[in-house]
Amino acid sequence: MPDPFRHYEGVPVLDLPADPPSPECPAADSPTFLSQLLFYSAAISASKVVPSTGFRYALRVNPSSGNLHPTEFHFVTCGLKDWPDGLYHYRPSSHMAEQRAIGNFQHITNSDAPIVFILTSIAWREAWKYRDRAYRYCLHDIGHAWQALALAAQAMGGDSKAIVDFPDDEIAQALRLSHDEWPMLVVEIRGAACKADAHETVWYGGTANQLSKETIPYPRIEAIHAATKRIVNSTIEPAPTGSGEIELPPPVQSTRSFGEVVRSRRSALDFVGGTQSISSPQLSALLANTAPLLSFIQLYLYVHRVDGLEPGVYRFWPEHAELQLVKTGDQRVAAAGLSLGQDLAGNACVAFSMIGDLDRAARAHGDRGYRYVHFEAGAVGHRLYLAAEALGLGATGIGAFYDEEVHRYLHVSPEQGQVVYHFAIGYPVPDPRLQA
Ligand SMILES: Cc1cc2nc3c(=O)[nH]c(=O)nc-3n(C[C@H](O)[C@H](O)[C@H](O)COP(=O)(O)O)c2cc1C
Repeated sequence: MPDPFRHYEGVPVLDLPADPPSPECPAADSPTFLSQLLFYSAAISASKVVPSTGFRYALRVNPSSGNLHPTEFHFVTCGLKDWPDGLYHYRPSSHMAEQRAIGNFQHITNSDAPIVFILTSIAWREAWKYRDRAYRYCLHDIGHAWQALALAAQAMGGDSKAIVDFPDDEIAQALRLSHDEWPMLVVEIRGAACKADAHETVWYGGTANQLSKETIPYPRIEAIHAATKRIVNSTIEPAPTGSGEIELPPPVQSTRSFGEVVRSRRSALDFVGGTQSISSPQLSALLANTAPLLSFIQLYLYVHRVDGLEPGVYRFWPEHAELQLVKTGDQRVAAAGLSLGQDLAGNACVAFSMIGDLDRAARAHGDRGYRYVHFEAGAVGHRLYLAAEALGLGATGIGAFYDEEVHRYLHVSPEQGQVVYHFAIGYPVPDPRLQA
């Protein structure tokens, strides 16, 4: 297993103040603002211990397939109070910022925001385990990381914007990234206290640590990544609209704070089956949270135990918060079977197939659209995780499923889309390995 932490050796390391206040409290200075932002989006939040060996490993605020964390957080700051302008890499293992260079680096992303994140993927971290399928998981992970940053910034009274179109190779070069790391998404953050401050550029660079002694090449991953580098932009056709016969009730509200929710979010290992159900206002709240993001993703639900809804498969239509019945009957065996035989999709109260409209994305963005559909799926998943946690439920993203069987089961034609992500929400079984 490759090292899950990247370090740049030989660079100055800046402290991000420990135990930053909750996101709702205004930060006193920029180091605290950055610390808050990263503590509630990318930091370590818990650990697990393997009982048989005593081996302890870290878990983070953002989820990741196999807990392998292919995503790295680089950021450019400009004009922040009490924080030198420069280029940084976040070191989650000690909640610190590695200062790779000082000076003005806004030209790299062509953005005038005071903080600009460049999220990168190290595909090898996923590929050693998931082989060719790893590319998808890297993209999902970027979607999760994007929402983790966007929602933390929002909770702190700030604003964020994701930029998907940029010249990959130029950015990789400008950031002096190691050859195993690929830029995937740029996220601007506004809202921090700023001042004008000009610095001459000084590079410390640092040496990226080698993640494993040996790497195995995955040519198909290299090829699809290369195929999605070219930027093509034409008009995005609107998402298909439709309606369902079931109107969802108003969503239930959560009283838990954002900070508490993100720091306690975990993936459920499995869910308690049996008879305990969720209410339909809870289901409404879960779905309402995803609605602002649904552009290329269609949500299909395998309803197992939701008060007032017959078990069955439903399609969610976000415009008027409606459900359309697609199939009746108990879906527990089907949902688990389609999710590569993972029981958790059957023991949940509700499971999901996310269908990505890859053709429409390709018509708008060329092959690069493949990335955007998966980013959106990851982002939708992230919102489902946090909404579930806020309601006292558990959730798990599911990247393993039988693609063709899902299409057949849901009667999804190639023109309509392809399954890109599964998800499950219910009452989690306790995980004895988990430590706060
Ligand atoms: C894209 C993605 C795919 C995942 N696929 C699965 C899966 O197929 N089965 C599963 O049990 N967990 C899956 N997970 C959950 C991860 O195993 C979990 O996020 C990771 O172990 C870290 O734990 P945490 O979410 O509690 O931080 C997935 C998570 C993500 C983000």
